[in-house]
Amino acid sequence: PAPGWTTRADVVVVGSGIAGLTAALRIHAADPALHLLVVTKDVLAAGSTQWAQGGIAAALGPGDTPEQHERDTLVAGAGACDVDAVRVLVTEGPEAVHELIALGTQFDHHPDGELSLTREGGHHRDRIAHAGGDATGAEIQRALIAAVERAPEIEVVEHALAVDLLRAADGGVAGLTLHVLGEGQRDGVGAVHCRAVVLASGGLGQVFSQSTNPSVSTGDGMAVAIRAGARLRDLEFVQFHPTVMWLGPDSQGQQPLISEAVRGEGAFLVDFDGTRFMQGQHPLADLAPRDVVAKAITRRMIETGRPHMWLDARHLGSAFWERRFPTILRVCREHGVDPVTELVPVAPAQHYASGGVATDLWGRTTVPGLYATGEVACSGVHGANRLASNSLLEGLVFSRRIADVLPGELRDWADPVPDERPEGLVPGEHRRPMQETMTSRVGVLRHAAGLAEALAFLGSLDHGAAEVGPDAWETTNLVTVSTALAEAAALRTETRGSHWREDHPERDETRAGHVDSWLDAHGRV
Ligand code: SIN
Repeated sequence: PAPGWTTRADVVVVGSGIAGLTAALRIHAADPALHLLVVTKDVLAAGSTQWAQGGIAAALGPGDTPEQHERDTLVAGAGACDVDAVRVLVTEGPEAVHELIALGTQFDHHPDGELSLTREGGHHRDRIAHAGGDATGAEIQRALIAAVERAPEIEVVEHALAVDLLRAADGGVAGLTLHVLGEGQRDGVGAVHCRAVVLASGGLGQVFSQSTNPSVSTGDGMAVAIRAGARLRDLEFVQFHPTVMWLGPDSQGQQPLISEAVRGEGAFLVDFDGTRFMQGQHPLADLAPRDVVAKAITRRMIETGRPHMWLDARHLGSAFWERRFPTILRVCREHGVDPVTELVPVAPAQHYASGGVATDLWGRTTVPGLYATGEVACSGVHGANRLASNSLLEGLVFSRRIADVLPGELRDWADPVPDERPEGLVPGEHRRPMQETMTSRVGVLRHAAGLAEALAFLGSLDHGAAEVGPDAWETTNLVTVSTALAEAAALRTETRGSHWREDHPERDETRAGHVDSWLDAHGRV
């Protein structure tokens, strides 16, 4: 539809988690004269950041170094990381975390005043800073929102879904269309003319039936970028978290995460016979990289015909549980399981998109004026399997880098050229069958026939939504990213990191290159 309202801003930041708010704060600090607009689909705190439990990884502890953090990141990434991007992440990480502390983030400390650091899967050192025990993301989100409130020049529009990029004649950014719900003057579809857009809109968890991601994670930024002609990368590398609380076969949507830090503090996995099946599978056993643990659980579930395995954390004791994991304890008890006295049922569920909109080391995408940071982006640091607690760090480090370059390379104002959407929108009623298809065919375990079925199903969905609104935009975005993801998964005929092909079970170095996704000449993914 034609925009009902228009406005102008130099820079629009899409998303309000650690990546979006860091980008906004740092761009504002770099050039306070720029008119900055932060748009977010729900309220400021609704994204994935506030759900992060384990923490944020950085070489901050005694004896730790960026080189060791780099080594662990590269091993987890299974040969698919961009080494230069990883080096940026680990060397700039400690300073970025100190800056978060200076901003007001209250990380947990030992009584002697030292930062308390824990360990998670794939890390050979204690290097995960945490807050409120297991409420790290919520504390970071709180501190960032408070900082944005102290900078009233940063304009914020909530309940604003990014619809499409407006592009200039040279293909670069000229603006962004939004669908805003209930924000007075700016209600409904409108256009923001701008000189740069920073996508920081998070991941795509809602592509699957069960995810640790909140309901807002519908791949909007990735879909906007694809439609604007940007290149996406590594979409097949979807991370499934090994220990998500199993709530029964019919439970859909966001599921409770049991942080890897619980295993970091000594919990372990057992099967229905009480066997510790991670022992002997990997030198790090229960703290092996996430893909290794998720695969081992899935294998055991298949072998034993069970819908989940168990996490045993009873020996941690009541006082430790209450101090160290108060959120997880409360949530488990709300679901009728007391981890102090009972085993917790766990199974893998979608957790993180390691791929996304391809960027260089400064967050630039292939579309001039379009930047991407955080989960929506593929900076190259995660490869085929993100190392635990590297995601908050990625958002922080690469948003700082965007702010370092963006003010100096802002485009001139440009008129948008008409850009016709080739098809209509997918009706919201297709969302659930799509999620079920993606989960069963493009989930933890994949094979060629299932991937072909998923692609046929996605291709058969009609684009005839009668009502043009957020539900149809989101469903369309989910179908767009699902299609790109399933195609990438079909093209990668090997098993690597989180991408597990039943029909190609070995890692194949002749297939180590990246799979890119973009629109063809017919406007199809
Ligand atoms: C967790 O706490 O297990 C999640 C940490 C992460 O996904 O990086």
